[in-house]
Amino acid sequence: MPAIAILGGQWGDEGKGKVVDYLAQRAQAVARFGGGSNAGHTVINQHGEFRMHLVPSGIFYDHVTCIIGNGVVVAPQVLLEEIDLLSGRGVDTSRLFLSDRAHLVMPYHVLLDGLEEEARGAGALGTTRRGIGPCYVDKAARLGIRAGDLLDRGAFRKRLAFVMEQKNLLITRLYGREPLPLEGVFNEYCAYGERLRPFIRDTGLFLEAALERGEWVVLEGAQGALLDLDFGTYPYVTSSSPSIGGALTGLGVSARRLEHVLGVFKAYSTRVGEGPLPTEMEKEMGQRVREKGHEYGATTGRPRRCGWFDGVAARYASRLNGFTGLAITRLDVLDELPAIKVCGAYKAGDETMAHFPASLPLLARCQPVYEELPGWQTSLGGTRRFEDLPPRARAYIKKIEEITSCPVALVSVGPQREETILLRPLF
Ligand code: GDP
Ligand code: IMO
Ligand code: MG
Repeated sequence: MPAIAILGGQWGDEGKGKVVDYLAQRAQAVARFGGGSNAGHTVINQHGEFRMHLVPSGIFYDHVTCIIGNGVVVAPQVLLEEIDLLSGRGVDTSRLFLSDRAHLVMPYHVLLDGLEEEARGAGALGTTRRGIGPCYVDKAARLGIRAGDLLDRGAFRKRLAFVMEQKNLLITRLYGREPLPLEGVFNEYCAYGERLRPFIRDTGLFLEAALERGEWVVLEGAQGALLDLDFGTYPYVTSSSPSIGGALTGLGVSARRLEHVLGVFKAYSTRVGEGPLPTEMEKEMGQRVREKGHEYGATTGRPRRCGWFDGVAARYASRLNGFTGLAITRLDVLDELPAIKVCGAYKAGDETMAHFPASLPLLARCQPVYEELPGWQTSLGGTRRFEDLPPRARAYIKKIEEITSCPVALVSVGPQREETILLRPLF
């Protein structure tokens, strides 16, 4: 049953791209299952530095097949630009496949994402404005256009005409904007279809066959548990399920195939966009961590808000996903701090809360209960074995294990592939 899921345990940007790039050395396939170009996965290796939005982070290995699954919402122009960029830098993209069932992000999705955000005014969610929410809305409303639809021009035109009539009513009547031209969108997407034709197939069949042969398949998560449509800090969430359920439905893989579910966490917390971050640092400390960690979004360049490690949120993420192990990234960002806080519980009034609440007003009343650990105040960048970490850094990792009741399987001490410590074998 050799599927290994790599999932974001926090609010996204935990370093999933780096972890997938590291683990893909031993895998035969890497598959993205959800989200779209709202994701930005940074991979740094011998080819250089890449910000991947749609192409799975396993693309740099000749022996790895990469799948964009049915659960991903795909902006064709972003995908094609990414393929061109990779090819231009000497990366072979002939082993990349796109599910015929993947929904396409259309120009009206991008337009509506922006218009909806503007209409929310002060209550804006801070979306990436990549059309992700409106695309998943259409999927659920059964108004979506799927990658496979591009391969039959006649049927595609009919469907697009029907959908765009409704979208243009919304754009003109509700938002008072100019309608989008059917012919222009049709021709644009037909051209994308021609270029994407060799990539489009039933990727579920490929994955099933690979798993049946006993090959290792890495399921590459996007976003993170606290951005989950069901379990995140609703409505400040994304429109998909970045959790384990989404991994299975987003690829058509059975739960029985799962061997490991690895939760990726930063050694602290960050959040880009609006919404609660219970352990948010005070301004000066937040600034210090942001500068040291270059905490600016890989997709939008927005500054990321920084917080201490939130054990309540981490336990919640672990329970939802059944993490068999944790990957702790960016431990090196805390190198210089004299003291590091970890939150093990929240307090709301007199009540101690061990669980992450659904209600945002209640969450807003929650005060993190911190334990303070001494910092190691030395550089971790060169460390390759857990035993070689300073005792205080090891104690910090042990504290995270204790709070989450989950073993740490991997520690990352820098953005490069080799700046990684594997504590227990995963393959
Ligand atoms: P993802 O969306 O989960 O793949 O994460 P992002 O790529 O958006 O953000 C993670 C950032 O942290 C990237 O800039 C990575 O290069 C960087 N990174 C990953 N692991 C480490 C680490 O252990 N130390 C440091 N300093 N940077 C890291
Ligand atoms: P990766 O895969 C961090 C956030 C947005 C916004 C909210 C909704 O790189 O970890 P959306 O455009 O999805 O409708 O925006 O979700 N968000 C992310 N934050 N990392 C991501 O992906 C994100 N994908 C979406 O900032 O707050
Ligand atoms: Mg990211």
